[in-house]
Amino acid sequence: MKKRNLITCALPYANGPVHIGHLAGVYVPADIYVRYLRMRGRETLFVCGSDEHGVPITMAARKEGCSPQDIVDKYHNIIKRSFSDFGITFDIYSRTSSPTHHKFASSFFRKLYDEGKFIEQESEQFYDPEARVFLADRYIMGTCPKCGNPDAYGDQCEKCGSTLSPEELINPRSKVSGAQPVKKMTKHWYLPLNEYEPWLREWILEGHKEWKSNVYGQCKSWLDGGLQPRAVSRDLDWGVPVPVEGAEGKVLYVWFDAPIGYVSNTIELLPDSWEQWWKSPDTRLVHFIGKDNIVFHCIVFPSMLKAYGDGFILPENVPANEFLNLEGDKISTSRNWAVWLHEYLQDFPGKQDTLRYVLTANAPQTADNDFSWKDFQTRHNSELVGIFGNFVNRAVVLTHKYFDGKVPAPGELQPIDREALAQIPTLKAAIEENIEAYKFREALREAMNLARVGNKYISDTEPWAVAKTDLERTATILHTCIELCANLSVAFAPFLPFSVEKLNRILNIEAPSWDDFGRDDLLPVGHMLNPAELLFSKIEDEEIQKQLDRLDAIRAARKAAEEAAAPKVEPAKAPCTFDEFGKMDIRTATVLAAERVPKTDKLLKLSIDTGLDKRTIVSGIAEYYTPEEMVGKQICILANLQPRVIRGIESCGMILMAKEKDGKMRIVAPEEPLANGSTVG
Ligand code: MF3
Ligand code: ZN
Repeated sequence: MKKRNLITCALPYANGPVHIGHLAGVYVPADIYVRYLRMRGRETLFVCGSDEHGVPITMAARKEGCSPQDIVDKYHNIIKRSFSDFGITFDIYSRTSSPTHHKFASSFFRKLYDEGKFIEQESEQFYDPEARVFLADRYIMGTCPKCGNPDAYGDQCEKCGSTLSPEELINPRSKVSGAQPVKKMTKHWYLPLNEYEPWLREWILEGHKEWKSNVYGQCKSWLDGGLQPRAVSRDLDWGVPVPVEGAEGKVLYVWFDAPIGYVSNTIELLPDSWEQWWKSPDTRLVHFIGKDNIVFHCIVFPSMLKAYGDGFILPENVPANEFLNLEGDKISTSRNWAVWLHEYLQDFPGKQDTLRYVLTANAPQTADNDFSWKDFQTRHNSELVGIFGNFVNRAVVLTHKYFDGKVPAPGELQPIDREALAQIPTLKAAIEENIEAYKFREALREAMNLARVGNKYISDTEPWAVAKTDLERTATILHTCIELCANLSVAFAPFLPFSVEKLNRILNIEAPSWDDFGRDDLLPVGHMLNPAELLFSKIEDEEIQKQLDRLDAIRAARKAAEEAAAPKVEPAKAPCTFDEFGKMDIRTATVLAAERVPKTDKLLKLSIDTGLDKRTIVSGIAEYYTPEEMVGKQICILANLQPRVIRGIESCGMILMAKEKDGKMRIVAPEEPLANGSTVG
């Protein structure tokens, strides 16, 4: 077994607060893992920080009307606070704007540059001639060619979900100044990932078949698709400046600079011994990330480290998770569809563990998963309150009632006692096995199963009833219960740190170590317990309703905004050929007679002179024209439409009408009367 564990979490962009999706996919699983490793006495370093560069930050600054520095200062602090509030135990949470990072990222680039590891290339990029800045795809807006949305981005239309390139936008405009973007030559540095492809194939596809299938699968499809050189610089005025002469106005691409942040933050924490963590074959490196980060952590960053050489280790595993949805919809910062951690804590103070529990029990480990408030409430009330909390409370309250809060001496164990205690080592092994395989959902289920064992044991043995006749037997039962409680304190420690702290206080013990887990003598006979407190309090329907109402209000506001912004005309139809149009026999005609179709509000029966013949057409225009108005009018008809029987009347053809978006219809007619039967086309 390797000596050290270096665990990293994706550096969140400091362009907004963190939400339940972040917690579920990355930070809670990583924290469970790290707490577990530490409890097992394994040397562990847990590194994270804010990702403070790149276009997302400058976008947020523009949106909030302040400087990028203001944005990162504001959100770095909110994010850092949220992580600490939720008990995420980083050894360091720094930021990529730190001097240490700027210095190290800059030297990292410079070493690769000096050693000729980059390709230098000029290419045409979109440029805003008014604001005089190059434009990332996201900074270019225009009309979506697929759905007509006038506010599509250069990389994606958020209305119809199409992936776009800026070239495809109709009437492109710069998001910065509104000017029409032009193309301009610019020079950048590229890491030739293609050169690393054979090595990556060997290292991942041959060497890491044990990686999660979602991770392995994404790597394989990238590698099978063939890798291209990737630009590692950008024209932007926010970031780590490219440390090369003649590179004014250029910064390191955020996806080059951010992962180096893992190293810089370690350097900041351990300036003298960081190399032990990053350059020792005796260190295991594990990256916790979301699925959108896979390529950067499995392909790009390893290639950077490989290019750098100098003994840098590569990740042993990258247990990436899928995404969490909220009430059936994709979580989205820009659409305000999220549960923000700092807001959650205002509504549910002290209930960090409930969220940690629900997000782990429901983790998007192998597929996207959904968070719903009802499920949140049910899991809290029936599992945390109903099983874990209920068992501990009964055990402690009864020990106070019958034995003055002192752990009673057990008598001879009966089979039912032995069976309950025998579950402890079995479940312990299952928890270990699952955590080590990054299956935190399953591990948590086993911990809860231990609480189930306790809860069932106390219900089956009924110490409150036995106490009426047999205090000695009651002592054995409650002794067994208290030992189960102490073991639960270990079992849940990686998952529910706040509740476990409370439990230890109630049991009046120091946190037991993982090695103690499985023992049935954790508390000496006569040990005094503290008074019982509830580990969890019930969550009421009103509290859940309040959350659902908030989400409904956001949905309604979004719908209203979408309707207001909707195009004023029907979207364009798919193109048709000249031949297809030519098939339609459109003619002028005159209405000879008109009457309402009985028992309908909308239909008129019209007798028509088409020049070719006299015929009947049934038309849904009664809301817009009276029969009297129609008689004598010249109209246009589709003369060769297949006849249809409507309300028992054969209708031969269709009247051409113009329809406004709100439904109002008017007849389409030649500008001045023409002979009936004139062709239209
Ligand atoms: N900021 C990125 C995101 O939120 C993650 C960066 S991870 C790092 O998707 F490795 F680049 F640091
Ligand atoms: Zn679209």
